[in-house]
Amino acid sequence: MAEQRATGGTEMKLAGNSAPLTFVLTSIAWREAWKYRDRAYRYCLHDMGHAWQGLALAAQAIGCDGFATGRFPDDEVSEFIHLAHDEWPMLVVEIRGSSIPATRANNQETVWYGGIPNELSVHQVSHPLIDAMHRATKPNSAVETAYIPSDEGSGEIKLPSPALSNRAFGEVARMRRSALDFRGGSESISLAQLSAILAAATQPLAADFADDRFIQLYLYVHRVDELEPGVYRYWPRHGQLELIRSGDQRVAAAGLSLAQDLAGNACVAFSMIGDLDRAARAHGDRGYRYVHFEAGAIGHHLYIAAEALGLGATGIGAFYDDEVNRYLNLTPEQGQVVYHFAIGYPVHDSRIGA
Ligand SMILES: Cc1cc2nc3c(=O)[nH]c(=O)nc-3n(C[C@H](O)[C@H](O)[C@H](O)COP(=O)(O)O)c2cc1C
Repeated sequence: MAEQRATGGTEMKLAGNSAPLTFVLTSIAWREAWKYRDRAYRYCLHDMGHAWQGLALAAQAIGCDGFATGRFPDDEVSEFIHLAHDEWPMLVVEIRGSSIPATRANNQETVWYGGIPNELSVHQVSHPLIDAMHRATKPNSAVETAYIPSDEGSGEIKLPSPALSNRAFGEVARMRRSALDFRGGSESISLAQLSAILAAATQPLAADFADDRFIQLYLYVHRVDELEPGVYRYWPRHGQLELIRSGDQRVAAAGLSLAQDLAGNACVAFSMIGDLDRAARAHGDRGYRYVHFEAGAIGHHLYIAAEALGLGATGIGAFYDDEVNRYLNLTPEQGQVVYHFAIGYPVHDSRIGA
């Protein structure tokens, strides 16, 4: 449901803002923090990545382009759109395209309807670490953004052409749900299906922070045709997989994912490794947000690709960070785990469908 908050010249003076339709995506961190404590800040950022790609892919499906801006003056944007103090703007997504009529109301006086947001609770529990994290990632000093290319390696397994899906985007987007668990039997996915999933994960992202990518994918392969079980690193430029650890990974993947069975019952699970240092060198402390936006965006593409191929997927934010980094033998220069994911054959979910 959409509520009209204002009429008139609501055009925002953001970098190059001239789009007929602009979304400001916001987070209320304590809505998640009551459950996930300080870790909730990361989930808010992941959620942004998912929501951004939800919008961008829907726009693309109707012939429009979406562009996300992560670098903007937080407090000015909050003030401009009259956000309550606990609602934070995180991403500004502009949508352009011939199917959106470009009627402008530039010269009209802005009339604010205001509106009073629901109070989530009369008692607000403070989460000082989240507040500090958010403050630290506001760009209060000008950082020169610099393009720092990532290292590119190679692997011994060349992926085949991606499997195709003939399902329409609208149907796929509407049907996508997180799997509660996966059927852990003998059913496998093909290498061409995995190739399609990985191609979707490395689609270009249109944003002021996405020219350079900070996430690398590690795969826990349980049941993929033609691939022996093991941990693999994905090198996207040449579409190759590098085997970095052989053997059955089902117990390890589930254990590392906070003992969640779904990561072991899937056909393939993922650790997304974020190069936070390189992001900080390129974007200052705000780079922390961007790495998590990118992880969420990749997660959204994984959800859509899995659904299009008749599979199920689940984002996994709960995992043992240090244990994952150790298990994958990551050096500090390689980064650290920021998000997990699992794809396979979903168990029947009685909450949805018959
Ligand atoms: C950032 C993020 C972290 C998540 N972490 C977990 C998790 O650790 N375990 C799990 O079973 N589901 C996890 N989920 C899946 C959510 O529970 C699910 O997306 C949510 O219930 C909404 O359902 P839907 O995806 O079907 O719309 C996560 C989802 C996101 C976006």
